[in-house]
Amino acid sequence: MQPGTTEPAGGDVVRRLRLALVRRLMPPPVRARHLEYSLLCSADDDPVRPSARLLDLALEAVRHARSVSLDDVDARVPATTFFPNVWPGEHYKLLAGLVLALRPARVVEIGTAAGTSALTLRKYLPPEGVLHTFDILPWPDYPATYLRPDDFADGRLVQHVADLTERAVFDRHRPLLAESDLIFVDAAKDGVMEQVLIDHFGTVAFNRPPIVVFDDIRLWNMLRIWRALPYPKLDLTSFGHWSGTGLVDWVTR
Ligand SMILES: C[S@@+](CC[C@H](N)C(=O)[O-])C[C@H]1O[C@@H](n2cnc3c(N)ncnc32)[C@H](O)[C@@H]1O
Repeated sequence: MQPGTTEPAGGDVVRRLRLALVRRLMPPPVRARHLEYSLLCSADDDPVRPSARLLDLALEAVRHARSVSLDDVDARVPATTFFPNVWPGEHYKLLAGLVLALRPARVVEIGTAAGTSALTLRKYLPPEGVLHTFDILPWPDYPATYLRPDDFADGRLVQHVADLTERAVFDRHRPLLAESDLIFVDAAKDGVMEQVLIDHFGTVAFNRPPIVVFDDIRLWNMLRIWRALPYPKLDLTSFGHWSGTGLVDWVTR
């Protein structure tokens, strides 16, 4: 992912001041390239537990993640932007491990950006697998994309320029979502968008329960959304992205 930040965009004076105040009151006790404020939450009062399927999948995906190679993806990515070979700590090898463990025929990604996760997800797809990646920006328009036209040549990587938070747009892509086995949500993390997507997903009659992976679940904007998710879920941050990686078993409730 593009290193996520909850820092406000320029012009949002109130949020800037609030962050400055928090930093003054609670100065970070550690140093790192990128720091984020978060909260730790007790588990005993979270009524949702991981399913056996999630625990088994996580163990298998982590085992695969230990041995996969993303050197080819890493070679495309400047060292200071994304870190496909950093694992644990970044989620790319875990994503590859999930694909190897699940052998999904349909993968949906929300948030193509420069293509690092798309290249990763596509690499270990089974022969019949297709990755559909969504973004509001066409990939050639993304600044410094790592994607190339030939990545799309065999039809196993397809980009849809569409905003799935819009209900009419979501409805157009409903059949594709219904047949997906793995969905990776890595978009705005603005405290709203992911909840809208969750609400939309709740209206889909999935052919089989997909695994939904949420990036950045430990960012402030994602804390409430992750905690409130009523489906079997597993926080796999220690084997995923330092900013939070959550797996959901999207079983019909
Ligand atoms: C954090 S980046 C994704 C990083 C990418 N998954 C990776 O790891 O290489 C977030 C992306 O979400 C896209 N985005 C924002 N809102 C969106 C929406 N409503 N639908 C689809 N994509 C969206 C942004 O344009 C941006 O490219």
